[in-house]
Amino acid sequence: MAKLGGTTGIPSRPYVGREFRLLEGRMLDSLNEVERNGLDALQKVQDEAALEAWRVTHLGRSSGLMQIFSKFGQLPQADKPVVGQRANEVKKALEAAYDVKSGQMRQAALKRSLEQEQLDVTLPGRRLPLGRLHPDTQTLRELYTIFGEMGFQVFRSREVESDEYNFQLLNFQIGHPARDMQDTYFVEAEGRGENPIVLRTHTSPGQIHAMRWISAMQPDNPPPVRIVLPGMCYRYEQVTNRHETQFDQLEGLAVGPGITFSDLKGTLADFARRMFGQATRTRFRASYFPFTEPSAEFDVECFLCGGKGCSVCKGSGWLEIGGCGMVHPVVLTNGGYDPQRYSGFAFGLGPQRMAMLRHRIEDIRYFWQNDLRFLEQF
Ligand code: PHE
Repeated sequence: MAKLGGTTGIPSRPYVGREFRLLEGRMLDSLNEVERNGLDALQKVQDEAALEAWRVTHLGRSSGLMQIFSKFGQLPQADKPVVGQRANEVKKALEAAYDVKSGQMRQAALKRSLEQEQLDVTLPGRRLPLGRLHPDTQTLRELYTIFGEMGFQVFRSREVESDEYNFQLLNFQIGHPARDMQDTYFVEAEGRGENPIVLRTHTSPGQIHAMRWISAMQPDNPPPVRIVLPGMCYRYEQVTNRHETQFDQLEGLAVGPGITFSDLKGTLADFARRMFGQATRTRFRASYFPFTEPSAEFDVECFLCGGKGCSVCKGSGWLEIGGCGMVHPVVLTNGGYDPQRYSGFAFGLGPQRMAMLRHRIEDIRYFWQNDLRFLEQF
């Protein structure tokens, strides 16, 4: 028995010598061919467009299969079931193969897109910016460390003062011309007579607070004082790149029996070497403050040019760092220390000025503008 319809495995009927059987046989052959061609062609299909073209060619209205269907009516009645059944088989086989193929292609396309357009769902967290200390705070802490190593403790004092503490007890009498050097913010004057409330113009009033507080512990035999007093000061200044209405000072005060000017010089010279390098030279120029006698301005050799002269030290080779002197007897008395038994020295440094010189900051206004582009550089 000859076999037809190789792919379906359905045994076809044997040829018989009659004419209509010939037509039936030809149609069955055609169906086998349509099926084989279709399935072979489908194997070669690689993409969506080719698959659609295949569908039109092999299952579409003008496909070989449909042409066979259209000739179906010419068949003798007796042969219709066999041909019809086979035609439907071929149609189903092609459609099933098409479905399988298109499913495979969809899977492949999905796999490809999953691989190629991978979506990374592991978003990194938002980085928390790490803050840092303000350049002024950094400088102050460096100063605390240096003076701490020399035995000075930090003493904090108020920013809002009375005229008495800010001036009078420091030997600036009312109307004293030296007050003109410290243009003052008066906070409250009414009803306070000659003792208005002011914003402190320097950290020196802290000297009185500290001495009174320490001497009160043992009034007959007051303990020695060795402190630094940091903090913000306020002056009614015209604001420029070198002057601000608020600025930091670091006051120093040492009181005890037998303290001399050479102690002051030694302390500040040692400070300068620790702060700016062992080779740093220092000098003291005579000056005047009502609360120290004698008084001096304290200069360090320009650490940027090594004393040769540059734009920062304006060619002089020296930088002014602060004022200093021996504590005035009136101030010692006001603090509770008998000037016959005790002496002391005091100094006032400008931490911001040091930071400006060291980092070549050209404008003091940057310090309190809170611009991160400035602050992040330190
Ligand atoms: N208080 C002075 C000023 O602000 C500085 C100073 C402090 C001078 C201590 C001498 C002693 O100008």
